[in-house]
Amino acid sequence: MAILFGGVPAVAKQWRKLLAEMLPTMEFRVWPEVGDPNDIEFVLWRHPKQGVLATLPNVKALFTMAAGVDHLDYDDIPAGFPIVRVVDPGMQENISTYAITWTLYFHRHFHAYEEQKARREWKVLPTAIPEKTPVGILGLGTLGTITARCLTTMGFPVAGWSRTAKSLDGIECFHGPDGVLPLMGRSKIVIVLLPMTAETKGVINAASLAAMPEGGFLINVARGAMVVDDDLLAALDNGHLAGAALDVFNEEPLTSDHPFWTHSKIRMTPHNASGPNVPARARQLADDILRIQRGEAPSQPVNRHARY
Ligand SMILES: NC(=O)c1ccc[n+]([C@@H]2O[C@H](COP(=O)([O-])OP(=O)(O)OC[C@H]3O[C@@H](n4cnc5c(N)ncnc54)[C@H](OP(=O)(O)O)[C@@H]3O)[C@@H](O)[C@H]2O)c1
Repeated sequence: MAILFGGVPAVAKQWRKLLAEMLPTMEFRVWPEVGDPNDIEFVLWRHPKQGVLATLPNVKALFTMAAGVDHLDYDDIPAGFPIVRVVDPGMQENISTYAITWTLYFHRHFHAYEEQKARREWKVLPTAIPEKTPVGILGLGTLGTITARCLTTMGFPVAGWSRTAKSLDGIECFHGPDGVLPLMGRSKIVIVLLPMTAETKGVINAASLAAMPEGGFLINVARGAMVVDDDLLAALDNGHLAGAALDVFNEEPLTSDHPFWTHSKIRMTPHNASGPNVPARARQLADDILRIQRGEAPSQPVNRHARY
């Protein structure tokens, strides 16, 4: 019984130590030292090397070490075992506080006060009232739901959009392709917390941004490809949108000549809304392995058909 680890050797050391404590009877092997391929029951690999999984006949699960699974080559992953995402409590806290921080930043006019400071302008802006600032969250999964609940507690009227119909206490729920424009239309601040799939690519475009109320804000914490960059720039430049905060980009790292760098209405972070927390991830992995060994489903299985 062994785990095959496909990450970098420096990180392997930390995983080996943690898993030796949590799963003492499980051997830990680091690619390319596979040993007997029949021994490998669990694979821990963000980008499995092409063709390798097909050479391991007894795999019971592939753990991706990430919450987003848009990077996987699904045709290269044999059917018959679950693909498991990582979403630990630390990630939920990091992503929700990231989205909430920018929501409060825009809601409390801090972007405008920053600009006023540069002009040495002393001017008090209208009091910000959460009840009058509807927030819309695209994606009501593990990260969108916790963010929605926190913002609801703060008094914001929150709505969310999902693929399948949902009913969540205190949160207005929209779903399906027809739900996105109504959601954007009622939301002064829109937070993107969707997985990147063929259906969600480019969902933030000229039409959906135009549906937002004048002076709205966009926060993208999910994947850059959900946003059509030129459409976002046009909406900011023509004044329809008042600001955007972005953690993720169509191309990463962002090229040095990209217009986002110098745009006065864009705030940016380098895809670090949530950094890796190896002990928390190892805990989830160990718990999931024990579940699978008991014949139960893992905590975060990927839907191979929907690809998230
Ligand atoms: N910036 C970072 O550092 C960072 C860190 C972690 C994660 N992320 C990103 O955040 C994403 C979301 O994570 P999560 O754990 O919340 O994912 P999740 O639990 O899989 O939830 C995804 C949500 O999006 C909805 N959705 C999927 N396809 C849709 C569609 N076509 N139309 C409408 N709604 C759709 C799902 O609807 P249903 O509920 O109906 O299935 C679900 O509510 C990840 O995929 C990853 O890319 C970014």
